Order: sequence, then structure tokens, then C-alpha cells
Amino acid sequence: MSSGKGETAQGKKLRSRAWFDNPENPDMTALYLERYLNYGISREELQSGKPIIGIAQTGSDISPCNRHHLELAKRVRDGIRDAGGIAMEFPVHPIQETGKRPTAGLDRNLAYLSLVEVLYGYPLDGVVLTIGCDKTTPAMLMGAATVNIPAIALSVGPMLNGWFRGERTGSGTIVWKARQMMAAGEIGYEQFIELVASSAPSTGYCNTMGTASTMNSLAESLGMQLPGSAAIPAPYRDRQEMAWRTGMRIVEMVHEDLKPSDILTKDNFINTIVVNSAIGGSTNAPIHINAIARHIGVELNIDDWQTHGHKVPLLVNMQPAGEYLGEDYYHAGGVPAVVNELMKQGLIRENAPTVNGKTIGENCRTTTIQDDKVIRPFTNPMKAEAGFLVLRGNLFDNAIMKTSVISEEFRLRYLNNPNDLGAFEGKAVVFDGPEDYHHRIDDPSLAIDEHTLLFMRGAGPIGYPGAAEVVNMRPPDYLIKKGITSLACIGDGRQSGTSGSPSILNASPEAAAGGNLAILKTGDRVRIDLNKGEADILISAEEIEQRRAELHAAGGYKYPAHQTPWQEIQRGIVDQLGAGGVLKNAVNYQRLAQTAGVPRDN
Ligand code: FES
Ligand code: MG
Repeated sequence: MSSGKGETAQGKKLRSRAWFDNPENPDMTALYLERYLNYGISREELQSGKPIIGIAQTGSDISPCNRHHLELAKRVRDGIRDAGGIAMEFPVHPIQETGKRPTAGLDRNLAYLSLVEVLYGYPLDGVVLTIGCDKTTPAMLMGAATVNIPAIALSVGPMLNGWFRGERTGSGTIVWKARQMMAAGEIGYEQFIELVASSAPSTGYCNTMGTASTMNSLAESLGMQLPGSAAIPAPYRDRQEMAWRTGMRIVEMVHEDLKPSDILTKDNFINTIVVNSAIGGSTNAPIHINAIARHIGVELNIDDWQTHGHKVPLLVNMQPAGEYLGEDYYHAGGVPAVVNELMKQGLIRENAPTVNGKTIGENCRTTTIQDDKVIRPFTNPMKAEAGFLVLRGNLFDNAIMKTSVISEEFRLRYLNNPNDLGAFEGKAVVFDGPEDYHHRIDDPSLAIDEHTLLFMRGAGPIGYPGAAEVVNMRPPDYLIKKGITSLACIGDGRQSGTSGSPSILNASPEAAAGGNLAILKTGDRVRIDLNKGEADILISAEEIEQRRAELHAAGGYKYPAHQTPWQEIQRGIVDQLGAGGVLKNAVNYQRLAQTAGVPRDN
């Protein structure tokens, strides 16, 4: 890569020069230099004009899913050095999906904010985003989108397949199953723990197609990772090699001045919606992908998910929708094989750009499916029409439903028709948060039957706060004993990507933001029309107005008090899930490296 000292190939000055080589301000240059020299890096290196590349480190002891990035970063550094750059690794706010209480959903925007400050405020010319566990991927991509310096993502990779008595055990999914086994008396507590632990045999993120595998695959379909990077299991040698290649490539990207805004085009977002359906992606994907679009300034809304995604079939046979796990997905060809299969149907916008400088079409044209049990051909999919439906009505402005997980039994019970999506009507039973649900679900006086609709409210970005994965609720014990294992669940919270429940989720606005879920009462009749995409409480407009007035007079929907400063701050500025759950003020700041220049001297 030939370019002048401290410049891009187009002759643009690297931003790190403003710190380490600014002839107009020698005092400050000396000051910046002396402190970075203190760990042994030399003035020669810092003033060499080589690109300085950040490695945004999301791994740590408290984020075990991403912890392997501590190892991978060594190979990333090798790659950066080999390509003529200088690496500077830095920590970002950790987010562990399973460990963070009250929910990791609270922290995505916090990690985003802190990454923006680091990328903008330090001498970095480009960045490697270490992604993996659910919220780490969107947080890193959102931050890179806002600052808009050259950026490339590197997945940590999924864990190896879990096994128990000769069967695959997948992250999260095994918990739902093990719970049922323990409830039925088939296993005791010790075996329950053992069974769940068997799903996590190595370093890496969840090996099912939960939110982590989804978001890592989508970071690739967005063009932000090297082709083939998403699916490589964390412990494989190929993962180390990919880390090195990623380090090499980011240096070239700085010389080429290839920025997130050059890659994250509308075409990439549409492709990503299509890929999400084909992989059986998580219902968290629309929240995160819409957030990334808002930060890069691409017009994308919740309806695009139905328009471009609903009719796409499910090709990837991975738990929770299917049988297989991360290693199998990798051996079957991963994201490039899925994209290739979709390309043959004309469903991919092949000219969409990617971080390696080639289009997604060029990258995926020759990668065919390697195992058609794991990635099914388009002509023999797992399920037809695997994308999301968007619902709206007097209950909320928008909510989504993954119709592909509706079982035949469920269709017959609610819809009275195994083929048509149709409409159904039932009595609402309403819970205010998961604690309320746990207390009352088995209470016989609620008279929950197999046609009841369970509602969860107070679980959105403001109400919970952070939006918890609590909308999928198990039926009362007395129904489970009769063989009814799922009821229709509707709510303003999220659902774990490892759950296969046919819930209506992410309802916006949430009860706590003045949505009509707040005025719903147990006993109300509710009608859901999946063909028309409608969800309504069957009460008159006058009744709605009266209930709204009563709620207003009572001071609005009540939710728990703030427990931390960030809970309070985020509650005041967070947008609804349908709009990506972003910090509203943050979308006013775009492409900072271009629009705001470098920050003032300190
Ligand atoms: Fe971190 Fe699933 S809990 S990836
Ligand atoms: Mg989750």
C-alpha cells in the first residue's frame, strides 16, 4: 500500500497526526507523545505516519462469551503490524447477556456511548470491533457508524457444539427443555445443572441461532466483517487466522479511507433483512439493525422487515428452530453459503459493498452449501415465509411476530386452520413485569385456558428498564399437564433469541411510554388478525379515551424506581424498540470524524 507518510492513498492526512505530529502545536504534540511513550512504544513508531489502529476489546473475565478476544487480539496485532500499522488495544464497557442484571439490554447504548467517546477523542485512524455476545455486536457497529472512521468487525465465534448422551445441547434452548424435564420429574436439580452446562463446552458465544449467532451473521451480511468470518467456532485455528487477516485488512482500509458510511448502504440493510429470515434470526435483530441504520443515517423502518423479509424461507437448520449448532453451520458454509443460495433466487442485492473492497456478490458467488442437512437448499427449506410480520392497532403502533415458529397445534387451537395465518380472538390476562407473572401464573382464579392471550407489560426500554427478554411466558402448570405447552404471548418487552415461542414482541410504544397496553385490563377481549397485521382491544373508542384519561389522572403507568444513575438517564432519552431503542439525542450526531473534525486539544 503506497501512500505518503501519515496520509491516505488519496493524500488525506491521518487523524492521529493531529496528536503525534502537529507542527502548529509542538507543546501539545510533546505532551501527547511523552505519555504514550511510557509503556515502551517509541517516538519513531508514533511519528512514523503509520495508521494507528484501535482494537476495541469487549472480552474480559466478566464477559466470558467475548473473553477469547483477549487471545485473538494478539493475532489482530500481528496483522496490523504486518500491514504497516500500529495497534492500540483498549477496553470497552463489558456487556454479558446472561450475567448482567436487570438486563444486558440496559447496557447496549452505554457501551455505544463510551465507544463513540473513545473513537472520537483518541488518536485512532481505524478500529477493529471485537464482537460476539448479543449486545456487543450492535453496540460496536452503532459506535463505529456514529464516528465513521474505517472499521472492521471480528467475531469471537460460537462455542463448540454441546453434547449430552449423544445429543446436541444448544445454548439457551437446552434451558427451556431442561426446565420442562425437571418439572416433569425426569431429572433432578444436579442433572438439570449438568445438562445446561453441557451446552457450553468451550470459549465462544452461544452455539444456537440465538441473538449472538444472528447478529454475528448479520454483521457479515452488512458487509462489516471479512467473508466467512462469522461462523468459525471460537477455538478453531481458522479463527486465529481470521483475526490476523482482519488486522491486516483494517490497515489497508485506512489507506483506502473505506469508512462505515461507504459500506452500510441501504442495499446492505435490505440484504441483511433477507439473510435474517433465511438463518432464522432472532427477534432482537430488527431492534439492533434499525439502530445501526439510524446511526449511519440510512432510512430503514420496522415495516421493511415484513416487506423484504416475511416471504423469505428458513434455510438454516439450527436450534432453536431446527437441530444443529454452530460447528455444523460453519462446516455447511456459514453466511457465504446462505447468501449464495439466496443470490440464485435474485434475493440479494449483489453489488452491496463489503470491508474487503469487493461486493457481496463477488465474495459469495463461489461458496456453495457444503451440507444440505444444515443449510437447506431454497427448493427444500425448513419453513416457507420465515420472516417477521408487523402488527399494529389500538394496542400499539408496531410489534413483530416470528410466524415461522407457530406450531401446527398452535394454529389449530387459536386459528382453527392449519394453513392460513388468519385471525383469533381471546380473553386477555395481563401481567405487570415478570415478578407479577411468576406470582400469579398458576393462580386458578385467573381462569387461563388454552385460548387465553397472555400479556406482559412494563418490560420495555423505559419500564423495565432496558427491555427484558420476558415476553414468552409458559402456561400455568395445570395446562402444561394437559399438554398445552404454549399460549399466545404479547408484550412490550423482548424475547430471547434462543426461545422458539410464537410471541408478539417489542410492542411500541410500551406501556411506560403511554402505549395502550397500559390501559388493557384482564378480561378484555383482544383480536389479533395476522392476515391484516392488526392487534386490537375490543372496546369502543370512547372507552379507550376514558381509560386513558383515568390513567393520566393517576399519573401514568407505574414502573419500578431507578436503581442506578444510568437507568434514570437512559429512561429520559431512549427511543422505543420499533425505532431501534436508540438514545434519541445520539442520532443527531453523525459521521463525527468528517462533520466535527478532530476534537480540540486537551
Ligand atoms: Fe453471550 Fe449467548 S450469552 S452469546
Ligand atoms: Mg438475549
